[in-house]
Parts: sequence; structure tokens; C-alpha cells
Amino acid sequence: MTTNLKLMVGDRQRELVRLFTSVRRTTIDLGQPLTDADATAQSMPDASPSKWHLAHTTWFFESMLLESHVPDYRVFDLHYSYLFNSYYETVGERLPRNQRGLLTRPKLQDVYAYRHYVDAAMSRMMEAPLPEQVLDLIELGCHHEQQHQELFLTDILHLFSQNPLRPAYRAVHRKPSQVRPEPAQSFLRFDGGLVNVGHKDVGFAFDSEGPAHQRYVEPFQLASKPVTNREWIAFVADGGYKNPLLWLSDGWAAAQTGNWSSPLYWEEQGGSYWSMSLGGFTPLDLDAPVAHVSLYEADAFARWAGARLPTEFEWELASREVRVRGNLASTRHWRPRPAGDAEVGLKQMFGDVWEWTSSAFAPYPRFLPAKGAVGEYNGKFMAGQFVLRGGSCVTPAGHIRSTYRNFFPPDARWQFSGLRLAKDI
Ligand SMILES: [Fe+2]
Repeated sequence: MTTNLKLMVGDRQRELVRLFTSVRRTTIDLGQPLTDADATAQSMPDASPSKWHLAHTTWFFESMLLESHVPDYRVFDLHYSYLFNSYYETVGERLPRNQRGLLTRPKLQDVYAYRHYVDAAMSRMMEAPLPEQVLDLIELGCHHEQQHQELFLTDILHLFSQNPLRPAYRAVHRKPSQVRPEPAQSFLRFDGGLVNVGHKDVGFAFDSEGPAHQRYVEPFQLASKPVTNREWIAFVADGGYKNPLLWLSDGWAAAQTGNWSSPLYWEEQGGSYWSMSLGGFTPLDLDAPVAHVSLYEADAFARWAGARLPTEFEWELASREVRVRGNLASTRHWRPRPAGDAEVGLKQMFGDVWEWTSSAFAPYPRFLPAKGAVGEYNGKFMAGQFVLRGGSCVTPAGHIRSTYRNFFPPDARWQFSGLRLAKDI
């Protein structure tokens, strides 16, 4: 029994070493196209500089693992915890979030040296068998870094969109595809009932995905695919942004203050729409899912379309029989694509765009944050934010599942956020 247990722990640790190595390498790859200047600038308080993402994900391993679990560990630089702590009150003081773009120093090469230093220390630590609680933290650190890989891309897109030259972050992979747009979406019916939702302790999940519990869901319909750019243009043309009756009060105020007349990054040129993408400024793909809309815009669109947003429990119930695959970051397309005609039933549930739900990001019954600093990871953000489901075209493969609850404030637009319509029965 003891031998088997040791073997199992060893297997898990070996798997985590592989995950750690792969995740850390992927982040380095994301940084390759960037100059120090690209990696230093901050385009808005919500978006962080690439350099900060590179360092903060490293600080997470240093602070949560090496400092606490390696007795003779010496931090790389005593100032870095102040610079690269994000929001952990229990860890200490930190640089205000809106000042991250002032970090012209350390240089980008110093941040890469920091990554190298921490990676070497982590590798040494992982040579010896580690207790489960340490393995849990390594796993959390890897998934944390994957979250930042997505933010790295959404933040660099926002930064480059502010540059009049509209640079491409990287030539986007465009393989010839058989993708043909469907003429229109259809609605699928679901019976609902008393259903099990939430993560059930098999494989990794963030604390906010549990505990698994039961919810009563009324019968409902869910669209076969997300709303497309073509459909969104019809909403714009019909005065969707000018009709207060379609909007929540806070949403209307946000739309007026922000002067919203289309999704973020759209621009009309000569009668057609173009959009900023990670591949530069390009014509809008009309049959691809709309992205970069806030919850407020998604909600107004749904009302205009005679539908509504799904709850997160409707979404999770519907996604249960859908394979977790799609246009994720690993396809290196890095923009939403039209639905293929090979699939039947629900399409694009995973990848392409995060789908806004009408559910507030709130604790599930019996939710308890973890003890210690990592308890600040999700729980303290459970006010004023809405849940998005399904991942996007810049979500790392292996980082998304049907129970995954992403969350953003209702006016956030710089993520790859779209929507799928639902209806009552
Ligand atoms: Fe973080």
C-alpha cells in the first residue's frame, strides 16, 4: 500500500514537472516577438505590461513555493516582491496596478534572468519527492501562469491597438481550412431539471469551480453557435447602440461614457468593418463569432434578438456532452473563426470566444477559500463580476473545462468575450 502510494505520488510529480517545463517554455515563446519597449508599456490600468506578466508568474512560484518550502532559498532580488505581487494582501505591499507601465527597470533581459533563476531553483526542488500540498501549489502555479498567458495576449493586443502603426504581434497562422459558415444559428432544447454542477475532484480545478452541488434548471433553449460579426452588424445598423430601451441602466451609462458604437477594435472603412487583431489591422471575418463586447453589450444584443443570455448553469449543463476541443491558443490562429459544418449540435462551446452568462460570480454553496495567501486567488473577487464560460482563441489548451468559471466586470471589453443566445421554453 505504501509503495503504491509512493508510486502514485511520483507519477503525479513527474507529470507536474512536464507541465511546469511546458508552461514556462510557452510563456518564453510568447515573449519572443517583443522588444523591451513593447514589453514595458501599459495601455490601461486593467492591462499589464508583458514584462510584468513574465515576472509576476515567476514571483508566484518564488513567493508561494520556493520561499516557503526550500529552507536555504535566496530570493533573486529583494525588491521584486513589491514590484510583482499582484493583489496578495497577506504577502505584503505592492506597486499600484496602474503604475506597472513605469517599470522601465528591471530590463527585459533582467526579467528573463529572473525566470531562469527561479526555474533552476524549481527544478532542483522537484528532484526530490514532494508532499501533496506542495504539488498542489506547483499545479496551481502552472494554471495561474496559463491564465496569464491569455492575459499576455489580450493585453498586448490592447497595447498594439493604441499604436497608430497598428503593428502585428506575430504573423498569425492561417492554414487553408474547410470551414464554411452556416447560414444561421438554430436553437437546441434542453429539459433542465435538478442537475449536478461544479467540479468533482478529478483533475485540476480552481477553488471557485466547487464544491459540486445541485441546481434546479428550468427547460431552456441554447443557440447552436455564438453570435457572429455579421449578426452584430445588423444590431449596429438597427440602432442597437442608440436605443436605451435595449440596455441595462448601468450599461447605457457605460456605453454613453465610453462612446460605444460597435465592439472594441472595430473601425468602419469604406463601408466595411475592419478590426485590430494579433495579426494586425485586418478586415472583419463576418461569420466568425463577435468578440470584445462587454456583458452590457451582450445583454442589449440578446434583448434586441428576442432572446437572453444563458445562466452559467444552463451553459454547463449543455456543455456536458461536448468534447473539450476547439479554436484554442494551440491552433495559433489567435482570432475567432467561423463555425465549421462538420460538427452537429452545439458548436464552438470551447475556444473562439468566452461566452458571457447572466450569472454573477458568486460562491457555490459550502465554498471555502484555501488557507493562506492562495485563499486570495478567487474568493475575494466575488462581487460585481459576471461569469464567462468556454475559453477563447487565446486560452491555452488543457486550461479549459466545462466547469471553468472565468469572470470579469460587466463593462470589460478587451478580452475575447462574446455571447451565445438562450431562450425560455
Ligand atoms: Fe496572477
